[in-house]
Amino acid sequence: MKTPYDEGSSRIESDMEEMADLAAGLKDLDPEELERIMSVVNDDMQAKVHDVDSHYDTRFTWEYDKGSRPALDKLYEKAKKAQWNAQTDVEWSIDVDQEKGIMDNMAAGGGFAGVNTASMDLSGTPFQSWGEKEWMQFGVEAQNWTLSQFMHGEQGALICTAKIVQTVPWIDAKYYASTQVMDEARHVEVFSRYLDDKLSGHYPVNIHLQSLLDAIIEDGRWDITYLGMQIMVEGLALAAFGFIYQLTNEPLLKQILKYVMSDEARHVAFGVISLKEYYQQLTSAEIRERQEFAYMAATSMRDRFLQQEVWERMGINPKSVVSLLNQVPERKQFQAMLFAKIVPNCRKLGLLDASNSWLRDRFTEMGIIGFEHLDDTGSEYEELQVVSG
Ligand SMILES: [Fe+2]
Ligand SMILES: [Fe+2]
Repeated sequence: MKTPYDEGSSRIESDMEEMADLAAGLKDLDPEELERIMSVVNDDMQAKVHDVDSHYDTRFTWEYDKGSRPALDKLYEKAKKAQWNAQTDVEWSIDVDQEKGIMDNMAAGGGFAGVNTASMDLSGTPFQSWGEKEWMQFGVEAQNWTLSQFMHGEQGALICTAKIVQTVPWIDAKYYASTQVMDEARHVEVFSRYLDDKLSGHYPVNIHLQSLLDAIIEDGRWDITYLGMQIMVEGLALAAFGFIYQLTNEPLLKQILKYVMSDEARHVAFGVISLKEYYQQLTSAEIRERQEFAYMAATSMRDRFLQQEVWERMGINPKSVVSLLNQVPERKQFQAMLFAKIVPNCRKLGLLDASNSWLRDRFTEMGIIGFEHLDDTGSEYEELQVVSG
């Protein structure tokens, strides 16, 4: 039987065919905005810890009726059977040749760096003098950076979901969230081990990713943790993992992503199911605040994760190259398709059209509204499940 991950039968792949068209409208960043973003840098790259001040109510519930929210209960029972062990289920014996993987990806016109130099005029740019060695180093650094940010994002998910266990008022949601805490611990573990054993170095957290995680964690409203993490960050991660899964031929990374995606699809469903119920009872002013939060997170994720630390390590001023690289079609496509899950999920939550279509207008300006009719993630986890217990 073919799984969704097999060539030719993947829902991920069929989504990809639509992506190129749907991604075509992504707007370029204006240079002043770019300048502002690049001026914010991490001034403590050696830090061992990072504290976030957060005030919120920890809530007990005395309503213990399991299954009073059947969709959450079903997800909880699924999650119990879908657990895997990052140390023993993953084939860590597979050798990884990072440079070969990058060569293969470049030969296929893609790669982690998303730069296809054949299609660019590099004269007069800092890349003019780059040869194979520099492009390879860039590919290696870009891959280390990307997987490091996934690892840090996974820790953000671990922390957010532990917080949801405390704050959400429903027993079925507390039960489900507890399984997600375990899932996220496994995800941090698996990316950290892959970086340590198979790649060539960690990167510190990108300052803009940290700021977004901080904004989600600082907010005391329990549903904002879900909106920021389960809908926005995990929605983006699920799309990104699917995209990288298709681009890479490296078998160990493919296996890891397959396991992680099967969990992430449940996590996004957890967000969609929980917030769909809760948002029906909010006032229009409260919904507007949620729309604004979703927009803030979307612009952060679209504009700010620019690998600036990679350029610095390569000895290039990031400001001199980022606007150039933002013109590369593959990169734009990748940036746009990151929203392939987020936009339909916002639609399902009623966030697009509330407040006179405020969020629809913003997503239209961003050039990502084209994704609104793709499948939402309310039940995709059924198809992406790897371990069925
Ligand atoms: Fe995760
Ligand atoms: Fe997750």
